[in-house]
Amino acid sequence: MEPKDELQCCVTTCGLPLNANYWDQQYQNNETGWDMNQVSPPVKNYIDTLSGKAIKILIPGCGNAYEAEYLMENGFTNVTLIDIAGTLVNSLREKFSGKPIRILHQDFFEHNEKYDLILEQTFFCAINPSLRERYAAKCFHLLNGGGKIAGLLFNIEFERDGPPFGGKREDYQILFEPMFHLEQFDKCETSIPKRQGNELFVEMKKKNMSADWVKLYRTTGITCSGCKRTVTQKLLKTEGVKSVSINSDFSELLVVSNQPAPLEVLRNALADDTNYQLNETFI
Ligand SMILES: C[S@@+](CC[C@H](N)C(=O)[O-])C[C@H]1O[C@@H](n2cnc3c(N)ncnc32)[C@H](O)[C@@H]1O
Repeated sequence: MEPKDELQCCVTTCGLPLNANYWDQQYQNNETGWDMNQVSPPVKNYIDTLSGKAIKILIPGCGNAYEAEYLMENGFTNVTLIDIAGTLVNSLREKFSGKPIRILHQDFFEHNEKYDLILEQTFFCAINPSLRERYAAKCFHLLNGGGKIAGLLFNIEFERDGPPFGGKREDYQILFEPMFHLEQFDKCETSIPKRQGNELFVEMKKKNMSADWVKLYRTTGITCSGCKRTVTQKLLKTEGVKSVSINSDFSELLVVSNQPAPLEVLRNALADDTNYQLNETFI
């Protein structure tokens, strides 16, 4: 088996929508190749560095949530798990019955609360890459001031379509840096053997910015990388706009600014080409 093949975690082929039904089927059919049957060693090491046991922790796309077990055993009292797969959530509810772990059967992107820490363990790589801008914005908005995302990101491009979907350090940096201080963003040395050398350990602290300065818009009319460049350049000329990131299928656009950048002002920046439309923010 090629090393890259070994990293493929889901058996069901791509092309299916990666929705609740898809993930539920994975659990029903025991097609859970990503499951390590143990707390992720780098995440465990990170947890060991945390001091406040009452911090509010979210684990999105938690799967069998070995990290939550470890947190609980180590006295953390405020842990929330979210997963979209009903079969999995039912088994988690049994496993953690009577234990101080909150379990939500929900789409992460629909969740709206505040946390101090989001633990990332093969959730980012499981979502459609077109949702990466949405993930970054969502995490920003879910975090309290000074809150962090910590965990693992694949630093490898897979030959086959995912999930898992891979990626590159430089691209993640472009995506996250406008909103987060990248406190750790390096090759992970403590990955499990079959992921060794292919993961980054990240610790990203939310920048001290107003929620209004991180906005995700639905877009229409952007159809190619040329349009993407044009729209980006025009928006970057708008006062206060620090970064513009358009997702991989050109349907969502993330704007980070250092002062209010109202929708009307952004629309005006694009007004000489009526093809390009920005619609109300939804995050
Ligand atoms: C590759 S698995 C990883 C599970 C676990 N983190 C682990 O490492 O074992 C991805 C998980 O994300 C869940 N998931 C996928 N999309 C989701 C979404 N939009 N909201 C919440 N959970 C989601 C799936 O049901 C699945 O449990």
